[in-house]
Amino acid sequence: MEKIIVPGSESKKLAEKVAKNSNLKICKTELRRFPDNEIYLRILTDVKGRHCIVIQSTPTSDAFLELIFILDTLKDLGAETINAIIPYIGYSRQDKRFLPGEAISIKTILGVISEKADRITTVNAHFLSKFPNEYESLKIKNLTAFPLIAKYFKKKLKRPVLIAPDKGALRYVKEAASVLNCKFGYFEKKRISSEEVEMKIEDIDVSGKDAVILDDIISTGGTMLKAIEILKNENANTINVGCVHAVLLKGIEKVAKFADEVICTDSIFREKFSKVSLAKIISENL
Ligand code: R5P
Repeated sequence: MEKIIVPGSESKKLAEKVAKNSNLKICKTELRRFPDNEIYLRILTDVKGRHCIVIQSTPTSDAFLELIFILDTLKDLGAETINAIIPYIGYSRQDKRFLPGEAISIKTILGVISEKADRITTVNAHFLSKFPNEYESLKIKNLTAFPLIAKYFKKKLKRPVLIAPDKGALRYVKEAASVLNCKFGYFEKKRISSEEVEMKIEDIDVSGKDAVILDDIISTGGTMLKAIEILKNENANTINVGCVHAVLLKGIEKVAKFADEVICTDSIFREKFSKVSLAKIISENL
């Protein structure tokens, strides 16, 4: 049965790269807005009996809604199977009830997606690094982009050391360290508010080295800015930053003002910053 790539508007370029790498056809869609801004979606290619690979990150609620419309319509039109590849899944950080009565948003999001897709594939999902067992029944394939990010820096830096901005990111740094074959450390991080964090460096000498801070997400940039400030005081030779998901453009732009280089992947495409493409790992996992 023939496979076909179905691109969502949020991941169009990435989907085109995956299609090219894998020699697969792209499904034609029409996406526009009604006068009141509601989303209009139409699938223009015949998908009956086909294996549909939908690629759409969901950094906004509209992107999520578009994904749901695509999945539902493909099913209605007789797709044989549907693999929802969602490089960045929004609401990933609302993954537990921090305060009584709060919505566990990611659980709801995944509930809706898994009803409509046969498989879910994602990349460095925040909730899976914290609660892998919670979502076992959904059989989500969680790819990692850190070896690719490490390879990018390997070509550029002479004396790299890797730093995790908190203990949660240490697993990512360990993955990257095995590619770069270098030392690594981490920061103790305490969140004061949604925009402010307190941090202390642990067990690593960065003086004269090319420091690379790695994390899954840059949102407001607060975490990275604090880490950069400390590394500057510790006399790092250069300070570089890599993340998988640059959730807010203004966040990564802010970080870029204070670092030698800042990069992210194209899970959410950011002009100037998306130096590492996920196309390779996605193509290998269709
Ligand atoms: C948190 O656990 C994440 O891994 C990131 O460190 C966090 O989301 C970054 O947010 P911000 O850029 O707003 O500090």
